[in-house]
Amino acid sequence: FMQKVIAIDGPSASGKGTVAARVAAALGRAYLDSGALYRLTALHAQQQGVEWTDEAAVAALAAELPAEFSGSRVWLAGADVSEQIRSENIGMGASAVAALPAVRAALLQRQRDFLGVAGLVADGRDMGAVVFPDAELKIFLTADARVRAERRAKQLHIPCTGIEFERILSDIEARDEADRRRAAAPLRQLPDARLLDTSHLSIDESVKQVLDWYRELS
Ligand code: C5P
Repeated sequence: FMQKVIAIDGPSASGKGTVAARVAAALGRAYLDSGALYRLTALHAQQQGVEWTDEAAVAALAAELPAEFSGSRVWLAGADVSEQIRSENIGMGASAVAALPAVRAALLQRQRDFLGVAGLVADGRDMGAVVFPDAELKIFLTADARVRAERRAKQLHIPCTGIEFERILSDIEARDEADRRRAAAPLRQLPDARLLDTSHLSIDESVKQVLDWYRELS
């Protein structure tokens, strides 16, 4: 039994979100940005004055997360927080709350609910390992840390040299390290996942590779 899911896991700023959303659109499937759920949980906790390390309290918030998704926008308690959840601070918060097993458990079914009849493309850290272990196609999408930092810098309109850039690079490396070393659903390439290194690929080329692999399945 295989689930109609393409699971794309990988480190931060690898471009997996962009690729996953494009693949979903090309195949007429739903798209799950699972990182957004952890980011929303971190923001929600911050707004409610709950410490990111308070496992029980954060898990309780995650279980009742007042979040809504529509296209590429995301709302929290009725407010559009699409840009707010992309900050590096909330990224660190997401990484912190994502290390707590009770928080991961609280978000598990919510992620699975994104799979409807049309099928799903899901991106995150544990899509293939935990959330959709029977996904028909599993991909580990990555790129050199420096290339990822350059992509993030471009998004933020920051030059790819200098102290601000080095800061982005070290933030990315710190978050990867935390995601890899944690006990709960650590970031890793599964034996049954295909490796897609996008260091030297454009978004179009990355999307094409995923679609080629998908077509090989049938
Ligand atoms: O992918 P994104 O950078 O938005 O994810 C933010 C953080 O959420 C990651 O650093 C990771 O710690 C966590 N995360 C996770 N499992 C997922 C998706 C994200 O632990 N499936």
